[in-house]
Amino acid sequence: AHLWRGVIREFADRLDVSDATPVITLGEGGTPLIPARALSERTGADVWVKYEGMNPTGSFKDRGMTMAISKAVEHGAKAVICASTGNTSASAAAYATHAGITAAVLVPEGKIAMGKLSQAVAHNAQLLQVQGNFDDCLDIARELAANYPVHLVNSVNPDRIEGQKTAAFEVVNVLGDGPDFHFIPVGNAGNYTAYHRGYREEIARGAASTLPRMFGFQASGSAPIVLGEPVRHPETIASAIRIGNPASWELALSARDDSDGYFGAIDDDKILEAHRILSAEVGIFVEPASAISVAGLLERSEAGAIPKGARVVLTVTGHGLKDPQWALRAADGSDVTPTIVPVDVPEIAGVLGLAASA
Ligand code: F0G
Repeated sequence: AHLWRGVIREFADRLDVSDATPVITLGEGGTPLIPARALSERTGADVWVKYEGMNPTGSFKDRGMTMAISKAVEHGAKAVICASTGNTSASAAAYATHAGITAAVLVPEGKIAMGKLSQAVAHNAQLLQVQGNFDDCLDIARELAANYPVHLVNSVNPDRIEGQKTAAFEVVNVLGDGPDFHFIPVGNAGNYTAYHRGYREEIARGAASTLPRMFGFQASGSAPIVLGEPVRHPETIASAIRIGNPASWELALSARDDSDGYFGAIDDDKILEAHRILSAEVGIFVEPASAISVAGLLERSEAGAIPKGARVVLTVTGHGLKDPQWALRAADGSDVTPTIVPVDVPEIAGVLGLAASA
């Protein structure tokens, strides 16, 4: 049996690592690529879901963090810092503590999901809630890293993008080529950039011939790339991508142009509708930001932009358990309260609509 060894060991020949690099890993990567029959039926395309919530801390960030923390330790760092909407902080905290170094994380006060806050605290990070938004946090983290002995592990650190490109390698491994379209949520646009790079490298080494068209989606209230200018007060229920001034903006525009790609904006109610479809029809539980890939596909399909039979991969970036409250809200906005029953078999059978068997 082949035991998965984490992305650095699995892809060492394609990453900037050497024998001198200590491998700090929690076994990230190797996530499922799941055929999504319900989405294929809705769109007429051949739809697959890359379920990145299956990483050790529950998001794709672990692929980049194993690289960023390993390289930081290689360079002698004793402390790392990041700004985060939650997932990066959870991942940085876990990998730093695993490496025996400290992590400081800056998050927007009151604006990150409970599961992510809990992770960073549990893994012993120095967590500060900044009275500002994510963009303020990133500005501060950059300034601290420039002037104090602390190593920045946001995706402006090139090691992060390097690690994250391995997800594209895994897609090509399973499908035997790049898909026709790749749909992905966009916040800082680091992951969009990373997949494009991964697919380009697969083509360069002859493992793939198709460069997927990269389709990225931002929430309508936080859509600077779509608008073409920074958003000073970004808003969306998809807290992971509540970002008004993406760090990898220019790289992402190059990747879009190279791949004949697209950036679109999706309203919060459509994000939540897609969240329900993915949960209830496909069986994959994600946080709201991740559901924007599904919402983007449905929107583009309705617009006639996705040919029948096209092969489509959707990255869903974070696990639903990080931010589970949305499942308990019905389509009409009301609370979902599961029915309460007494300890009584016939009554429970009645509530379940079960007729007694003969
Ligand atoms: N999906 C999730 C669940 C995220 O946490 C993020 C980013 C993205 C998508 C967007 O990825 O920034 O590479 O375009 N989260 C960062 C964080 C900002 O701090 O956890 P991106």
